[in-house]
Amino acid sequence: MTFKEEIQAGIPNQLPALKKYDPSINHAPKRKKILSKEETKLALQNALRYFDPEHHPTLLPEFREELEKYGRIYMYRLRPDYKIYARPIDEYPGKCEQAKALMLMIQNNLDHAVAQHPHELITYGGNGAVFQNWAQYRLVMQYLSEMTMEQTLAMYSGHPLGLFPSHKDAPRVVVTNGMMIPNYSKPDDWEKFNALGVSQYGQMTAGSYMYIGPQGIVHGTTITVLNGFRKIKKSPKGGLFVTSGLGGMSGAQPKAGNIAGCVTVCAEVNQKATQTRHSQGWVDEVISDVSELGTRVKSAISNKEVVSIAYDGNIVDVWEHFSEANIKIDLGSDQTSLHNPWAGGYYPVGMNYEVANEMMANNPDAFKKEVQKSLRRHTEAINKHTANGTYFFDYGNAFLLEASRAGADIMAENGIDFRYSSYVQDIMGPMCFDYGFGPFRWVCASGKSEDLAKTDAIACEVLEEIKKHSPEEIQQQMSDNIQWIKGAQENKLVVGSQARILYADAEGRVKIASAFNKAISEGKIGTVILGRDHHDVSGTDSPFRETSNIYDGSRFTADMAIQNVIGDSFRGATWVSIHNGGGVGWGEVINGGFGMVLDGTKDAQRRLESMLFWDVNNGIARRGWARNKEAIFAIKREMKKNPELKVTLPNFVDDDLFN
Ligand SMILES: NC(=O)c1ccc[n+]([C@@H]2O[C@H](COP(=O)([O-])OP(=O)(O)OC[C@H]3O[C@@H](n4cnc5c(N)ncnc54)[C@H](O)[C@@H]3O)[C@@H](O)[C@H]2O)c1
Repeated sequence: MTFKEEIQAGIPNQLPALKKYDPSINHAPKRKKILSKEETKLALQNALRYFDPEHHPTLLPEFREELEKYGRIYMYRLRPDYKIYARPIDEYPGKCEQAKALMLMIQNNLDHAVAQHPHELITYGGNGAVFQNWAQYRLVMQYLSEMTMEQTLAMYSGHPLGLFPSHKDAPRVVVTNGMMIPNYSKPDDWEKFNALGVSQYGQMTAGSYMYIGPQGIVHGTTITVLNGFRKIKKSPKGGLFVTSGLGGMSGAQPKAGNIAGCVTVCAEVNQKATQTRHSQGWVDEVISDVSELGTRVKSAISNKEVVSIAYDGNIVDVWEHFSEANIKIDLGSDQTSLHNPWAGGYYPVGMNYEVANEMMANNPDAFKKEVQKSLRRHTEAINKHTANGTYFFDYGNAFLLEASRAGADIMAENGIDFRYSSYVQDIMGPMCFDYGFGPFRWVCASGKSEDLAKTDAIACEVLEEIKKHSPEEIQQQMSDNIQWIKGAQENKLVVGSQARILYADAEGRVKIASAFNKAISEGKIGTVILGRDHHDVSGTDSPFRETSNIYDGSRFTADMAIQNVIGDSFRGATWVSIHNGGGVGWGEVINGGFGMVLDGTKDAQRRLESMLFWDVNNGIARRGWARNKEAIFAIKREMKKNPELKVTLPNFVDDDLFN
């Protein structure tokens, strides 16, 4: 069968041959056993409902074994033999460009060069799933190959409910991931309902098909590191940034450190992850001995080198050793996957990687104790450094939250706040989100690098034009973003699809998208797919991350994320998604996003203007209502430009009235 025929066949009538478990691939850790005997039967019944009863006798023992061995039923046998990657859009079978664009984005999320655990359909963050199993993948690709512009596919946590009649302006796909009745949204609920095959953790851009490899995060991380050094009023040259994780997102840190111009040390316990990032050129050097690391770092600092070094080991060892060796850390953070602390997100210090994996599956209670012990030790070491002048910030991975739950010395004197701020409270919130700047991105569906280069040039031109009359308040952002897009080609950021990330505000996003649509209509470039990370101005309600700089008490509400996705869906998004969990963990955040296909038509122009305007400004309005002065400035400016926009603004109360 050709690639197209395989897609169109969906779940084949004849079962494909059994697949061998390939140990050379980075696999998801075994999930803990959580189902009772009755629930195990239910999980198997759930899995088998995708197949004709004639296959049940063959598949039942196989699926039972998968559940027993890996804690989940991935249906490995159904994994296709063709190579999965973002092919040029014309190579996909289908009846409409929008559905083909979705196929391209789905395949990008599962590309071996992009995905963290490709055989388990996990894109990043340890558990960020595109689908729960390979039957779902096959069915979805088949539905997309049949879909017309008059249909919408409803996606329930990886499961395609089916194609429903709709209309050409409706989203082609509506994705929900991990949406739970709130009382059933604790970490163990995820383990249980995911093992049953009825829910999945979509992270942010994994289950919404908008992941573009570590580039997606490099830009945001570069901005954070640059502004972190600005905050401590020190030049990155000769400065030291210490952090951890070389995984899906965290792997961006060394590259961002290099672009910012400092010395970066990034610890990683998984040698496969380190090798991947090193071979991709995302980290310059790898050192396995902590004393040797200290010596190398001292010389890099004194020579003001721009270099990134991976430490092949546990981050706690780095913090402790640097304290003993009197190495001054300027910026410190952490990007282990603490949103998922008990199932492979955080590896305790003093324990070999394999032993830890074994313990988390077979003795989860003991493993949890080890994680918490390690977090207390981790915090103690950080505290020593901060007493010596290090600026430590939480990097949106729930470090402060989990350290506090582990009983670490991490609370501020008032016993309510944490001792340290999150990067959103100090940097991203006031400097970016409140003004509407966020991780806008696009993918050139032709797969041609020339198209990407052309879009880079178009975007740069648009931003330079806007900057000429931008107010003083956003000049720094505009300069940083122009510098970023100018260096984007040289920094070789593409892994997987021909994609680009570029922080932009509402004006920038609308004008860049309009310029792309025009270039497509003139035949200068092919189809472009727009999107963004959910980690943005309006897409995410997350009290310890994206909305951590909301101080009116509403940061524990999720109205904004829900309003955002509903608004996007009727303003022209090609697909929308809304997720429980993403970044900081199941039950801790609601986040959503969109994808939008630009094909050079007037329809695309109408949709982009309407949707991108709402997608940014509704979040600014909410931030303004929370009394964030930068957002009040931004939304007032927008109201001046657009008389149809009328936003409720807050009044400020004189504090003296309360005395
Ligand atoms: N700040 C942001 O903008 C942002 C963006 C995306 C993700 N995140 C968060 O950052 C975290 C990391 O995301 P990711 O996609 O890289 O996850 P990931 O699971 O792919 O990578 C985390 C890495 O940390 C390593 N690790 C775990 N414990 C360690 C330890 N004690 N010492 C050294 N290495 C250790 C793991 O082996 C893994 O490779 C997640 O919680 C994610 O939600 C933050």
